[in-house]
Amino acid sequence: MRLLPSKKVVGEIVVPPDKSISHRALMMCSMSSGVSIVHNLLESEDTLRTFRMICELGGDFRGGFDRMEISSASWRESSRPLDCGNSGTTARLMAGVLSGKRGFHVLFGDDSLSGRPMKRVVTPLREMGASISARQDSLLPMCISGGELRGCEHSLSVASAQVKSAILLAGIQAEGTTAVTEPHCSRDHTERLLRSMGAKISVIEKRVEVEKSELLPVRFSIPGDISSAAFLIVLAILHENGKVTIRNVGLNQGRTGFLRLLMSMGADIELEIEESLPEPVGTIVAKTSRLKGVDVGSDLIPSMIDELPLIALAGAFAEGTTTVRGAKELRKKESDRISVTVQNFKRIGVEILEYEDGFSVEGPQRITGGKVDSYGDHRIAMLFSIAGLLSSEGVEVGDSKAVDVSFPGFFETLEEVCQ
Ligand code: S3P
Repeated sequence: MRLLPSKKVVGEIVVPPDKSISHRALMMCSMSSGVSIVHNLLESEDTLRTFRMICELGGDFRGGFDRMEISSASWRESSRPLDCGNSGTTARLMAGVLSGKRGFHVLFGDDSLSGRPMKRVVTPLREMGASISARQDSLLPMCISGGELRGCEHSLSVASAQVKSAILLAGIQAEGTTAVTEPHCSRDHTERLLRSMGAKISVIEKRVEVEKSELLPVRFSIPGDISSAAFLIVLAILHENGKVTIRNVGLNQGRTGFLRLLMSMGADIELEIEESLPEPVGTIVAKTSRLKGVDVGSDLIPSMIDELPLIALAGAFAEGTTTVRGAKELRKKESDRISVTVQNFKRIGVEILEYEDGFSVEGPQRITGGKVDSYGDHRIAMLFSIAGLLSSEGVEVGDSKAVDVSFPGFFETLEEVCQ
């Protein structure tokens, strides 16, 4: 896909439903005791992995992704290995779910997911009583023999919503109390949905505790994905002629760190937040802004983990230095996001420094253009498409189809707002 500079970025956008919440809704409603009704589920490659996997395990879904009735799954053993595709959320959260379900369950994924660390879920789930074996004891494929679990105390060395959620989803099936403490707070979608579904849960700062619980069915509508909105927000801010309005987007504090960071850099962003359950939603208006460089400290990283590569782009346009440190986790995402962000920026004429745990960029710089690769990573494909629209000569993005993992229709949305 070749993206050429655009004259204007203006419009009202609807972004796709939230990916993290959609995965959790499919799993947790299938674990509940009645019929849940969920509106606006994300239908993308990643969430379809979770959907199809639960179907294999006796899931009961009626309707479409716009309005789905979800009943308790039978959680039968599948005779086939279960394909997580590119989706870390599917692999890690389902490991937690399946640890409490009788049977022999085999999870596998694509090349990218097969290289991502699973030990972080294997160790705590084993401690809770699940029998798990994995390639090199840490990678997919992974075999889980689920059954009786006991509650345990877990202290995570790295903040991770996927690991925390895997433990909590095992924890509601375990005898006794299961507790997880994180070094910094990660997104809390699992906790919010557990509370809405009547689970016994308590949260005190970075510590979450659950007891064995029967989940009650829920009815709710999933808001737009702030991580998808992020690309359009940054595009409007950095463009010399930009204004976008995004309605009905999720504004969970654990996801909006990059909005707070952009505002501290001087971005013109207006927020209207509506405290609805289980998740806050609202409207974002973002306009052309002049930014100044910023230092991003490690405590802020979990609340903007998926948006950090976009901060490199904002940094290239900002006056002064923008530095991200303490973000080693970025190397363990769908691609090594530190390395591919730096390599790709260099290919399009941006000077950027790579650190083991982040990057640093001096601005303002001009993006000339050139050829980059997504390395099969949806967020890298979208980042460099935006960079193309802001460049002087255009950017060609290899393997741009990767956007379908989280934002089907991404390029059509760009066409709507770019003039
Ligand atoms: C996710 C959590 C984040 C994020 C990922 C989705 C989730 O990972 O990067 O895209 O749905 O729980 P962490 O496990 O590092 O928090």
